[in-house]
Amino acid sequence: MQPGQPSFTALRAAAHRAQHQTLDGGSIFADPVAGRILGQTPESVFGEAGDSPSRRGMRLLIAARSRIAEDVLAAAYARGVRQYVLLGAGLDTFACRNPRPDLTVFEVDHPATQAWKRERLHAAGLAPKVTFAPTDFERETLAEGLARAGFDADAPAVFAWLGVVPYLTRDAVLATFAFIAAIPGAEVVFDHGEPRSAYPPDQQVAAEARLAAMRRLGEPWITFFTPAEIAAELTALGFSEVEDFGPAVLGPRFLGTPPREGPGPHVVRAKV
Ligand SMILES: C[S@@+](CC[C@H](N)C(=O)[O-])C[C@H]1O[C@@H](n2cnc3c(N)ncnc32)[C@H](O)[C@@H]1O
Repeated sequence: MQPGQPSFTALRAAAHRAQHQTLDGGSIFADPVAGRILGQTPESVFGEAGDSPSRRGMRLLIAARSRIAEDVLAAAYARGVRQYVLLGAGLDTFACRNPRPDLTVFEVDHPATQAWKRERLHAAGLAPKVTFAPTDFERETLAEGLARAGFDADAPAVFAWLGVVPYLTRDAVLATFAFIAAIPGAEVVFDHGEPRSAYPPDQQVAAEARLAAMRRLGEPWITFFTPAEIAAELTALGFSEVEDFGPAVLGPRFLGTPPREGPGPHVVRAKV
């Protein structure tokens, strides 16, 4: 992120969700507030109209990860979980759509992004019931940020950490997982990419082009895990269930494409 500036990739992720409603009919993830919170057209965010295969792929992945997180939340709520924590929330609109009045929603985000989100909510006439916990993951711990906000670390919670892990240092990522792992009954949904070295030679150029594009946006991807690495890290921290939605699962289940072997994006659900 640029010092003092809200996250530009948060704006782009929100534009993808808004466009998923208009171009795909919200087929994977229905979010009637996605366009309203954006406050501009998705086309103006992307700087061009139209669609492309790579834009569509990213859009459907962003829709799928939100869908997985909210499905996990619904199942956890049915078991009695009453805390939902959005880490690096960006312009996520769950709090505006929350149908469960006894579910406490926390939004943790970089202070600059969160201040901008609050302006966006106000400008759009949206007043969700949500507890904001401004926290820079690189400067303080999630424990500190959430404690200030009244989070109950002795009660179970679902954490959604969507589109954030690649932007953080490995130390900050693992410290956050360690905090979640210490909460009885906690569950987390997050996504991650694989290191460039995991890609076969014929996909290296495309993998490097994706990294270069993020560097140009000023929010480089710096942390990657192979599926085996992240499963080992989570298990060592005390997570007992680790479910990987990798390219073999995401394609057929959400994207309308055949299962794909090999490296790619992953959405992971892990439960203590
Ligand atoms: C790609 S956006 C994803 C936003 C949202 N989760 C979504 O799916 O639309 C990345 C998010 O990570 C947050 N972020 C990046 N670095 C951070 C840090 N050091 N501390 C806290 N949040 C950070 C940004 O503020 C932004 O909200």
